[in-house]
Amino acid sequence: MRTIEKITRMQSTSNTLRMEGKTISLVPTMGALHSGHLQLIARGVELADVCVVSIFINPLQFAQNEDLNKYPRDIDGDLNKMNSLGVDYVFIPALDEMYPDGFQTHVEVGSLQEHLCGPFRPGHFRGVCTAVLKLFNIVKPHVAVLGEKDYQQLKIIQQMVRDLSLDVDIVAHETLREENGLAASSRNSYLPPADRERAGGLYTALRKIKMEFENGQRNTELLIALGKKVLSDMSIEDIDYMEICDCETLESKKEAKSGDLVALALKIGGARLIDNLRL
Ligand code: PAF
Repeated sequence: MRTIEKITRMQSTSNTLRMEGKTISLVPTMGALHSGHLQLIARGVELADVCVVSIFINPLQFAQNEDLNKYPRDIDGDLNKMNSLGVDYVFIPALDEMYPDGFQTHVEVGSLQEHLCGPFRPGHFRGVCTAVLKLFNIVKPHVAVLGEKDYQQLKIIQQMVRDLSLDVDIVAHETLREENGLAASSRNSYLPPADRERAGGLYTALRKIKMEFENGQRNTELLIALGKKVLSDMSIEDIDYMEICDCETLESKKEAKSGDLVALALKIGGARLIDNLRL
């Protein structure tokens, strides 16, 4: 496993690999790798001859009031965790390598970013797309692996790939959960043990909605009220949103149907957590 910090070096490495007929997978991350990431990486290793993992905490996707400065960082730990997974290259660019002085081009996907997390995190998806497009241009992967926990991010990146005719396959990987149902996330490390236990409530609420849907309830207002009740019974009150939406357009629905997405974002302690489930 080799680490690369320079964009030109990563590009020439990828050019050579492609000339040799090798396929390349990319698993883009912001580091602080948890077991969910390790599954994405294992999938990346399976999918191509050469697997590149990128670690870059992308400031463009954090708003002023967000957790950029305290976002967990542990490069040595990350490298150790990846050591035995069969990763070939770890691309770790410095901030001024990705965004040198004078940087002024951004990528923005249209209406998909107006739903769910969009209104709560202005500029977030524009920052994500800008970084991910750069990573695609630098690593030149045939395939990239992204987690379904960040479902809106996944759909937005798929849309960007289609709209800009990028020659990259996007593979979605299912969410890994802790024993209490909490979706694996780097931000879980902000939670003290009692809050981490309570945060299992997100999945309990999602499952309650799915169960009521399977029992025949289609009215999304009622379904959401039942989900919110589960949260309030666990003293989880600081909810950004809980919605049932179309899984392609992400538009909120009045009547649920099979395949729709239930998505939520809320704060527990200082941590903003998101999760989702398909009906
Ligand atoms: O999901 C993440 O960790 C980030 O949003 C990504 C895709 C690496 C872009 O910075």
